[in-house]
Amino acid sequence: MRAALTQESEVFPAALMTPIEQRLARFIAEAGYSQNLAEAVAYSLLGGGKRLRPLLALRCCEAVGGDPLAALEAACAVEMVHAFSLVHDDLPALDNDRLRRGKPTAHVAFGDAMAILAGDALLALALHAACSAATESGRIAHEVTNATSAMITGQVLDTLGGFSADQSPEDRLRQVHSHKTGALIRCSCRIGAICAGARPSAFALCDRWGDLIGLMFQAVDDLLDVTQSEAQLGKAVAKDASAGKLTFPEVYGVDRTRQEIARLRADALATLEPLGQNAEHLLTLTEFLAGRTR
Ligand code: IPE
Ligand code: IPE
Ligand code: MG
Ligand code: MG
Ligand code: MG
Repeated sequence: MRAALTQESEVFPAALMTPIEQRLARFIAEAGYSQNLAEAVAYSLLGGGKRLRPLLALRCCEAVGGDPLAALEAACAVEMVHAFSLVHDDLPALDNDRLRRGKPTAHVAFGDAMAILAGDALLALALHAACSAATESGRIAHEVTNATSAMITGQVLDTLGGFSADQSPEDRLRQVHSHKTGALIRCSCRIGAICAGARPSAFALCDRWGDLIGLMFQAVDDLLDVTQSEAQLGKAVAKDASAGKLTFPEVYGVDRTRQEIARLRADALATLEPLGQNAEHLLTLTEFLAGRTR
């Protein structure tokens, strides 16, 4: 097993992160937006996120035998949906947050109307990016739209409820998290494998790994909300409980949340075994995501 602590710069190498940043910026530059819309979209998309989802696409593409940059357009598509989801998630009608990535949220910086429209624009740009993929663009567009629908379903459950009456709190939590966060992360892994032309067995493996780390990602996000500072995360903390959100610490308590994260991490690592040495970077990512502090 690898050492748990890996430098962030090793997990997010410039050789992959720079092409992602540049391609995202080029998609905006070529979109033909009015200047004010371009500014709001650039603020929301280029504003310093970790770029986890595009990195997952590139790394999964590589792990199943492709050139990582073959997944660049598809990777940008998922990051655009993610950015759209954050802009709308922060709106007063949803989580009503004023800080994101250490900066004022889009609606604080540009007003509610522009934030809503910039989110809309990012979703359309995501479809454009998916359709720009050199191979399998139709399949990638399907993957991205399906994951977006799942994310929105998750956001509805998270914000407005709508569970079936017989669901336990544990089942509800899993349903919210696998939809609102898990679906896009899983999609990143699936489209990476698609861009590599993966065999069904390798595709299934990326899919399963993506499912596990997607759930783990939101479990860690919930934990960070109760254990970290606003300065560390660049977003508001200690809000989930007061907002009545269904979270891992609320349902299981902090100690069992840590155990659940450890279990998901172990399952994710075991899933990668058939890939052998090719999974090296996915192993590193699993460790990083289980132990991340921002
Ligand atoms: C935050 O995602 C929203 C969740 C799904 C929990 P990230 O932590 O990946 O956000 P950025 O892109 O790095 O800001
Ligand atoms: C966000 O979940 C999920 C989506 C944006 C789809 P959260 O509401 O927990 O994310 P943060 O904590 O605001 O980043
Ligand atoms: Mg939310
Ligand atoms: Mg939120
Ligand atoms: Mg959160």
